[in-house]
Amino acid sequence: MGASLPTLQFPDVPVPLYDNALLCASTAEIYEETSHRAATIVANKFKTVHAPTTGPTPQEMATKINHVDLHLPLGTTEESFAELNDLYLKDAVYFHDTKYAAHLNCPVALPAVVAENFVTSINTSMDTFDQSAAATHIERKLVDFTASLIGYDSVQADGIFTSGGTQSNLQAMLIARNTATAKLKGPLPQRLANLRIYCSEDAHFSIRNAAMLLGLGYEAAVAISTDAQHRMDAQALRAQLIL
Ligand SMILES: Cc1ncc(COP(=O)(O)O)c(C=O)c1O
Repeated sequence: MGASLPTLQFPDVPVPLYDNALLCASTAEIYEETSHRAATIVANKFKTVHAPTTGPTPQEMATKINHVDLHLPLGTTEESFAELNDLYLKDAVYFHDTKYAAHLNCPVALPAVVAENFVTSINTSMDTFDQSAAATHIERKLVDFTASLIGYDSVQADGIFTSGGTQSNLQAMLIARNTATAKLKGPLPQRLANLRIYCSEDAHFSIRNAAMLLGLGYEAAVAISTDAQHRMDAQALRAQLIL
């Protein structure tokens, strides 16, 4: 990448046009070389990091990130890697460290990281078969296989891989909402307005957010009190149900 770049002129903001930024035949070697370099940087981190965190404060991080001028091109890939190290890698939380136990991040599976290379570089669109070819069938096969591992009937069962808990809660509540509204009578807004989600007061906030996104409103998620072990109080739930 050259230091002085031609620019696209948006109304007020000049946007630099990078050479060799698109992944194609003429940049295949650059892709290979920079990907290898990136993998080496990550591998070296794992070999040299000896604690899960450096303990940065939010203010320290904000100051560093706010200092970046996104209009100023760095010029070289090496400079980008150096900036990445300074802003992100140096103080990242390494939950791969065996002493890390603070959150619920699952360990990173090595084959998944390698597979990510194929997924992001080929960037298959999964919305229609003419764009996805084998990828559609790979997804279907993996969904069926996962369902069979759980013990579900692979013909009856269906599924989708999600990004995590928030999306899974939304997906589950969408199915529940549609099943519930199909059983009720009357205009749809009225049927939606009558639905409630009873969850423990310790439930993740994604439940309330999903209720809002599904057109039920935040208030549709009713928090039920818990005992000292954070178990939902069954009496309190009963009281809410018979209100
Ligand atoms: C019970 C529960 N639901 C949902 C989530 C949100 O998950 P994610 O961050 O993967 O969207 C969490 C995350 O802590 C959780 O503990």
